[in-house]
Amino acid sequence: MAGVPPKRDFLSIADAAAELPSWLERAARLKAERARREVRASLAGRNLAMIFEKSSTRTRTSFEVAMQDLGGHAVFLSAAELQLGRGETVADTARVLSRYVDAICYRAYRHENVVELARWASVPVINALDDVEHPCQVVADLLTMRERWPDGFRHRRLAWIGDGNNVLHSLLLGAAAVGLDLVAATPDAYRPKPAVVQAARELAARSGASLAFTASPEQAARGADALYTDVWVSMGDEGEREARERAFHGYQVNGRLLGLAAREAFVLHDLPAHRGQEITDEVLDGPRSAAWDQAENRLHAQKAILELLLLPRPRPAAAGPTRRHRRTRARPRK
Ligand code: CP
Ligand code: NVA
Repeated sequence: MAGVPPKRDFLSIADAAAELPSWLERAARLKAERARREVRASLAGRNLAMIFEKSSTRTRTSFEVAMQDLGGHAVFLSAAELQLGRGETVADTARVLSRYVDAICYRAYRHENVVELARWASVPVINALDDVEHPCQVVADLLTMRERWPDGFRHRRLAWIGDGNNVLHSLLLGAAAVGLDLVAATPDAYRPKPAVVQAARELAARSGASLAFTASPEQAARGADALYTDVWVSMGDEGEREARERAFHGYQVNGRLLGLAAREAFVLHDLPAHRGQEITDEVLDGPRSAAWDQAENRLHAQKAILELLLLPRPRPAAAGPTRRHRRTRARPRK
């Protein structure tokens, strides 16, 4: 059908690797428009279904407000209250929801289920966090860093302190895509997944970003331009709480660690924070905390993501370069 964009999912930040600079540019423009109170109805008449298996404050609210601000509508669906919670398959849920809405965002325990939903949905599917990635978070994170580094990402170094988790996975891929150096300090037993590190290394080889891994928070923080931390116990990992709290002892972003970073360094946290564990009140509430801007930027980032997935893309000037952005997964029969 003319004017209907091919379905495009956002399951990993790597799905947008080549376009991240333009996604960030759009998010920044949408942020400026909102500050001027400009009305924008780019998604008028569009509906988003939001399936959540886990709790959420920022992701849920920012998606809902983003749809509303852009003239559309969002439907919140707690997975426990859907028939999904009583055994209806992910595939059947995808096929039915695709008949009602224009896009589906899904926060899931298992990445495989997000992939399965995308496989069977005929509308774009957005990963709203799973056990492997949190790509929407990282669009907002890169927007927050871009605002503070007007000269760009090159020759900037971000230090990750903590768990080799879903947020670090997306951050590794995102940083590698935009040419931002990243050093991750994690306990040896909590390093990021090798497959994600390998994919990030391939992106970094193209952008020139350097990726490094250490078990020493001090080594990572020394001279860094920004420190980023996240909870030690992610949703779904609660059964490992005691072991994790022991393993992450010493991986706290506090005044001492921040003192090792560059003089202008700032601190990122995707939130919710476990104050007194991975970060102190003093740092999170202090003048070098970027966490509140980062949380706000979720809204502007979601709008950019929704527009980019839902609105028709301009046709390429010549055949070739956009081919690599097309879906390559085999489409199942609906
Ligand atoms: N950072 C983030 O995704 O927060 P929520 O879990 O509140 O959505
Ligand atoms: N790593 C955390 C992020 C929460 C937004 C989790 O998965 O619980």
